[in-house]
Amino acid sequence: MTESVGATRLSGGEGRTKERDAGRKQSSARLEQLWARGRDVLGSDLAIMGGAMTWVSERNLVAAISNAGGFGVIASGSMSPELLSVEIGATKALTARPFGVNLITLHPQLLELIDVCAALRVSHVVLAGGLPNGAAMGRIKQSGARVFCFAPALGFARKLVRMGVDAIVIEGSEAGGHIGPVSTGVLAQEILPHLQSVPVFVAGGIGRGEAMLAYLEMGAAGVQLGTRFVCARESIAHSRFKQAFIRAAARDAVASVQLDPHFPVIPVRALANPATERFVAMQRQAISRFARGELSQKEAQLEIEHFWAGALRRAVIDGDIESGSLMAGQSVGFVTREQATAEILEELVDQALGVLAARFESTRHATVLPPQRLLGSQDARG
Ligand SMILES: Cc1cc2nc3c(=O)[nH]c(=O)nc-3n(C[C@H](O)[C@H](O)[C@H](O)COP(=O)(O)O)c2cc1C
Repeated sequence: MTESVGATRLSGGEGRTKERDAGRKQSSARLEQLWARGRDVLGSDLAIMGGAMTWVSERNLVAAISNAGGFGVIASGSMSPELLSVEIGATKALTARPFGVNLITLHPQLLELIDVCAALRVSHVVLAGGLPNGAAMGRIKQSGARVFCFAPALGFARKLVRMGVDAIVIEGSEAGGHIGPVSTGVLAQEILPHLQSVPVFVAGGIGRGEAMLAYLEMGAAGVQLGTRFVCARESIAHSRFKQAFIRAAARDAVASVQLDPHFPVIPVRALANPATERFVAMQRQAISRFARGELSQKEAQLEIEHFWAGALRRAVIDGDIESGSLMAGQSVGFVTREQATAEILEELVDQALGVLAARFESTRHATVLPPQRLLGSQDARG
């Protein structure tokens, strides 16, 4: 208030500049306050994680995100312990900033992958794909690394806290890749007000800084984005994969269709393409062959499960966007061009700061209104 009163005495332009500077300072301070816990647990300038994306989140994108102040995460879903070791070394050569490694709890060599992370002093491990067992958790904690886990519901999150996780990620069904059934907005309302003992990061459908700010204001410590980083200039995704993202609208990122409850399909969100249609036809065929006794239930199920094997690699690396899997979240609608990673992060922060600055501006104007004007406007409303 003092500032705004003072500013009105200055000449118009000078006063406005001072007001703007003050607004910017206040907005930055507020954002710092909102995501302090997230920055602290990550050790990064921005509490924005680049969600691990198999084939996409390798050394180049991970280092670019960390170098620009965010927090990159290597996706190890497709890697052997040897490959992971090479990737961690290569990432360290590209950035001195903190980054994490995403491990899938169902990976047959999970413990060996953990040992690789421990030997290379990885500071953060993000466990995905279900509740980790005590052995895996203990091994990571013993190495001194921080453990992040995904929680699909509040009870699950509480269990993870009891197991000793350092942070939780909640990811809604708007996200790209493997998804749960509940939207980000509902998960955030279910979990954020009730879980304060560890920092919580919100993921799924975040494409702009305004949404990021909204989750921070609801109590999140930070956010995780995947889809928005696919078309980063530093991302090695094939140009045809990137073009498909640039062309797509939110409604093109659809969840996989399951035809029969007896033949479960892993829910995955991806851009619809000819392979999506073939997947439905193939399910129909396998199910009718089972009904005619030509396949056992197990054989039919295996056919369904094997359909997408290698499909993400085909799309991301080979650029086969017809038969590959174009995993993408609904926030794909906000991907409009290839951009430098630093620019994407800057945009998110600027959008958040813009909201805060506008809010400070409107409070400032509200406070300088003379009391009789305020009374007058109330009278006018009757
Ligand atoms: C192409 C692609 C591959 C992904 N692969 C993985 C993965 O290997 N492990 C994982 O935990 N999450 C994976 N995800 C999810 C991301 O890490 C992230 O949580 C998600 O993209 C956030 O939602 P958004 O896409 O709406 O930003 C993947 C997402 C995409 C788009």
